[in-house]
Amino acid sequence: MYVLGNWKMNGSPELLERFTGPLTALQGELSSQAHIGLIPPAGLLGKFPPNCEFMLGAQDVSEYEDGADTGDTSASLLKALGCKLALVGHSERRQLFGESSARVAAKASRALKQKLTPVICLGETWEQREAGDTWQVLTDQLAPVQQQLQGELARCIIAYEPVWAIGTGKTASPEQAQEVHAWIREKIGLHQVALLYGGSVKPENADELFAQKDINGGLIGGASLDIESFEKICRAGARQNK
Ligand code: PGA
Repeated sequence: MYVLGNWKMNGSPELLERFTGPLTALQGELSSQAHIGLIPPAGLLGKFPPNCEFMLGAQDVSEYEDGADTGDTSASLLKALGCKLALVGHSERRQLFGESSARVAAKASRALKQKLTPVICLGETWEQREAGDTWQVLTDQLAPVQQQLQGELARCIIAYEPVWAIGTGKTASPEQAQEVHAWIREKIGLHQVALLYGGSVKPENADELFAQKDINGGLIGGASLDIESFEKICRAGARQNK
């Protein structure tokens, strides 16, 4: 099971300080049951001690190699800063920064070249779900990734994050999430790929979500900013041990 905390544009050196010790200890304790990851804003990445046991991740990665791309962060720098993971295609990047699925695929490809594991985020809006377009939206989001990465998709993690559940307190029901996860697994035809659910995961709903057959963990936003909540969610992941 994977439990990854996405701090989004939150956090500070103080918060990092508060998390590092407890999370290192927790990862040590749960090492055989859960992979814990923290995905802070890029500016905090270099501040984590090299020996923290949990995985570090970036919230985004450039699709280009090092060069004249002001504001971007290259996969090679992320690697040098100790990252193991890179989120690509988070819905906030797609919506606020106009990232297309083709660009998301290019970013995933660049991350893989540096041996970072891309966490490819997918998900439909409420309007798309209501209109019955969920499968088409997910198909369109997956297609460039499948085309560009082909067999390398086996080295990625996929996070299903219904946009309507992100930061809204409105979680997909375990059945809704399982239905989509099973569909994604079938669609990509790679049974070993970890499929994470994201969208208002909290200590109160984590057990039920993580118990679903095709859910291999969670991508946690708001609740990952509080060490106690995040620890409870990590423990819920460890209880499933799959
Ligand atoms: P949330 O965010 O847990 O605050 O809903 C999840 C995410 O966007 O990764």
